[in-house]
Amino acid sequence: MNPRNPVSRRTVLSILAAAPMAAGCARGEGEAERADAKPASATDTAARAPKKLSEIVVGFSQTGAESSWRIAHGKSIQEEAEKRHIQLLFADGQNVHNNQVNAVNGFITKGVDILVIAPQESLGWKPTLKEAKRAGIPVVLTSRGVDAEEDLYTTVLVADFVWEGRLAGEWLAERTKGNARIVELVGTPAADVATMRKAGFAEAIAKHPDMKIIASQSGDFTRTKGKAVMETLLSAHKGEINAVYAHNDDMALGAIQAIEAAGLKPGQDILVVSVDAVKPAFEAMTQGKLNATVECNPMHGPLLFDTIEKIVRGEKVPKRTIVPGRLFEREQAAALIDARPY
Ligand code: AHR
Repeated sequence: MNPRNPVSRRTVLSILAAAPMAAGCARGEGEAERADAKPASATDTAARAPKKLSEIVVGFSQTGAESSWRIAHGKSIQEEAEKRHIQLLFADGQNVHNNQVNAVNGFITKGVDILVIAPQESLGWKPTLKEAKRAGIPVVLTSRGVDAEEDLYTTVLVADFVWEGRLAGEWLAERTKGNARIVELVGTPAADVATMRKAGFAEAIAKHPDMKIIASQSGDFTRTKGKAVMETLLSAHKGEINAVYAHNDDMALGAIQAIEAAGLKPGQDILVVSVDAVKPAFEAMTQGKLNATVECNPMHGPLLFDTIEKIVRGEKVPKRTIVPGRLFEREQAAALIDARPY
């Protein structure tokens, strides 16, 4: 169990009490749908006998608690379930793919009405999704996608990860005038989000021949691994590195600790740009240690349960909904930090 995550202290598959709570975040954010979004067919969404919303049981498989982002994401979903009096079964995958597969298979056996999956890894889901389809249980993916045929799930709620990477790359190109020796801290390699953030960044810097990634290593989206990887790279490439691109804020914050321990000034000697825009990143920006972060909004709860309600009512939902974000620079941080919801 991760002590940073209050959720993971609950017994895996625990049933949450349906107590009313205050709304966790603003509605409307994240409701932008891509122009190419394909509506799911009515048969996709109303495969089983209709139930009242108050009667449904949702089985939610979360990756784990690897980052501040993930903790905010799980909290948003749990608070929204409580607010709407919808029963949510929560399974903490503890960042192990097989734990998630076993938990989802368990939800199917139990006969939940809706499956919500935040997949740690994108491969290896097909047999489970086929089983869910056979059982007539709609599947909603949140925070990451899977590598499977589109008819095996009802809808996916994610950010545009390629765009996030591209934006970080364009920002760095502008700040360094197209001249940088970069360390890339990659997220969990088997997750689509890592592949896509890598691709978007590579695309942006490819236009600048003097921007080079001198090392690219996984820090698994955690602060601890981000720090450890950065320590190793700083001693392997002494005096060479002048920029870090981290696929999430937690790894960037770990890298910042390593840079300081090496006697250098993060944000100055080595520019740092990352993704997520969580509050601890804003704190680092106010201290001048993190230069910029691209927002990836974790507050999926309201959008997720609006989607679930539509599915239960047999209404069409888009195949993919993109949760929008934006880039924040350290110069903006002091004015915005108090209002950050996560
Ligand atoms: O899937 C979203 C990513 O997963 C977030 O950027 C990262 O912090 C999290 O662990």
